[in-house]
This record gives sequence, C-alpha cells and structure tokens, in this order.
Amino acid sequence: MNNENLIITDMGASGDNKHSEHATLCLGIESSCDETSAAIIDSDRNILSHIIYSQIPEHQKYGGVVPELAARAHILAIDEVIKLTLERANKTIDDIDVIAATAGPGLIGGVLVGWMAATGIANATNKPLVAVNHLEGHALVPRLKAASATDSATNIDVEFPYLLMLASGGHCQILLVHGVGKYELIGQTLDDSAGEAFDKISKMLGLGYPGGPIVDKRAQIGDAKRFHFPRPLCDKPGCDFSFSGIKTAARMMLDKTPESDIDETFINDFCASFQSAVVDCITNRLHNALNDERVKNANPKTMVVAGGVAKNSAVRAAMENLANKSGMLFAAPPMNLCTDNGAMIAWAGLENYRIGKVVSEPIAPRPRWPLTEL
Ligand code: KG4
Ligand code: ZN
Repeated sequence: MNNENLIITDMGASGDNKHSEHATLCLGIESSCDETSAAIIDSDRNILSHIIYSQIPEHQKYGGVVPELAARAHILAIDEVIKLTLERANKTIDDIDVIAATAGPGLIGGVLVGWMAATGIANATNKPLVAVNHLEGHALVPRLKAASATDSATNIDVEFPYLLMLASGGHCQILLVHGVGKYELIGQTLDDSAGEAFDKISKMLGLGYPGGPIVDKRAQIGDAKRFHFPRPLCDKPGCDFSFSGIKTAARMMLDKTPESDIDETFINDFCASFQSAVVDCITNRLHNALNDERVKNANPKTMVVAGGVAKNSAVRAAMENLANKSGMLFAAPPMNLCTDNGAMIAWAGLENYRIGKVVSEPIAPRPRWPLTEL
C-alpha cells in the first residue's frame, strides 16, 4: 500500500476513550468507489476513529476511476485500514458489537472487497453484520451530528421525516426520508448526476479529477454572470433533473473559443457560471418538491443535503436560503462526511442494527441498489 495516500481523519474529539461502557460500538467499512475507509462509532454518536485511504492519486492520470485498479487497490489497503482503525480507537475486535459494510450500490469489485472482509470478521467473531446501502450511508449521516460539528447546519438534530437532496458522483435524487429504510423518491436525474457534471466540466477544462472541489474553488473567484449556461427542465413542473444539456453547452462554448482566450480568468468565470446553473437547477427542483402533495402531506421540518456535492459551499448556501424562506431547518453533514467515508457506513450500520436489520443468511452485494428497494 502506498502510504502517501493514507489520509487519516480522526474525528474523535468527543470520542477517544471517553465513550460510555454501555454504548454499542460499530465498525463500518466502505469500499464502493475510490476510498477504502473504516470507522468506529458508538451509539452515543462519538466517532472513535476514522481512517480513509484515498485512491485519488492512482486514478488521476486516467481522469476518472478505473474499476479494476480500484478493486485491486482496495484489496491491498483493506486489512491495514481496518487494523489502523481499531488501533486508533484503542480497541480490539472483541470490543466491537456490530460490523457494518457497504453491500452496494457501487463498483462491484470494490464492494466485494469490503463486504467479504466484513463477512469474514463477523463470521470469525460471531458478531452481528449489517449490509449497508451506500446511499443510505449518505442519507443518514446528517443525523450523526458528530462531535466535530463546525457550523449551524451540522449541528441540527435531524428528525424523520426530512426532505433530502442526495447529490453524489453516481446519484442525484430528491427523497422524502420517512425513517431508516423508508425512502420515497420525489425526483431524480434523467441523465447525469450533479457530481458527474462537475467532473465532466473539469475534464473539459483540463483541470483534473475529481472535478467538484476544483471547479468549486475556481468558481469562488469567478464571475458567474459572464457565461450563460442553460437550466434544463427549470421551466417545467416536477422535480426531475437533467444535466447533460449543461455539459453539451459547455462543450460548444469551449469549441467556439480560441485557445489563446482560455486563460485563468476565463476558466474561473466559466466554472462560476457553470456552478451557478447547477445551483439554480437544484433550488428550482427543490422549490417544486416543497409544493409536491407527497411532501406537503409528510410535512418535513428539515431540508438536508448529502453526498459529495454537499461539500459545495454555493449549494449549501442556496439550500439554506431556500429552507429558511420556507420556514424549514437546514442540515448538512460536516465537510469530511459528505464524500465517501467509513463513518457514514458505521452510522447507518448502527441505525439499522437498532431496528434489528442484520444479515441472517449470506447475501450477494449489489452493483445497483435503489433506496426505494430497502
Ligand atoms: O458521494 P461521493 O464521494 O461519491 C459517490 O458516491 O458518488 O461524491 C463524489 C462526487 C464527485 O463527483 C465530486 O466531484 C463531487 O462529489 N464533489 C463536489 C465537491 N466535492 C466533491 N462537487 C461540487 N463541489 C464540491 N466541493
Ligand atoms: Zn458516495
């Protein structure tokens, strides 16, 4: 394993060894894309340890995740990541009460690595095992309200039901979260996800992978009014998204621009204008969702954003504004729990364990596993 890529994230400020003897301890494992990650969380919401091995440097030269390379990197990293997670929490496997791992959706080679590791540990130690849906990890982590909460949005008690904007690299959905395992789909993308759009724009501009954080940073110093990007579906009723038109418009604008005009200012303005179109689409669709009969009947008190795109400060700010205008609370995970991580899997593991959802017979991990099929 290349230790240079081992990003150790410890969020256990309130955790360490202070957790109550009576709290349930869960070891969660994530391996569905390009992060091999594990965390130990207790049922009092303390993160005792959290290790993320990021493969980003290995995929960067290909401009995106290469599934076979990802699976191989997970195999090389997984044992060390789990061992370190236990060490950093000052625990042995005997101290752990529940094992949880992502069982899908995701790149199946990687999912299998984490799932088989978890199954092996659970079988060898005779401990309960939870098959976590990766999307449910994103969806429930705002409820963790980790000790590291840094701003008001991360410090909210998120109660069911809530209205969730789930925006990651693979998914873009508006959901009503009625409870653990209870999701109602209100709208979703008809083509690309929001994260994918960020990644593609970044690639077109030659800025690198993953595109979200790079475009976000550029957008902060750019002029969002310089270029006009379409806002697909925003003149139509409903809560579905479409981002492929924005991508095509970007391609056409770039093809028309002489290379000598594409300087730093051009790139910053381009990123800002693109990001503003994505933000407008998200708020437009959420606005419609608030007027949807299903949402009105459920009467959610909190609007929540989760998934990698939740790291975007413009998305967070626009959603907070919409929530406030609509008399709702706004919640988001802390920045380092937005993109893929083991803590969200451990937390979803604990939430499922609490309601008795443990694996009772061998299961097959799933590359596709919608939240509505839990
Ligand atoms: O949730 P995630 O880590 O992986 C999936 O489950 O897909 O999300 C990764 C996505 C990538 O597309 C990445 O470009 C995007 O989240 N992302 C962002 C930002 N940080 C990550 N998008 C916009 N702004 C950001 N700051
Ligand atoms: Zn994810």
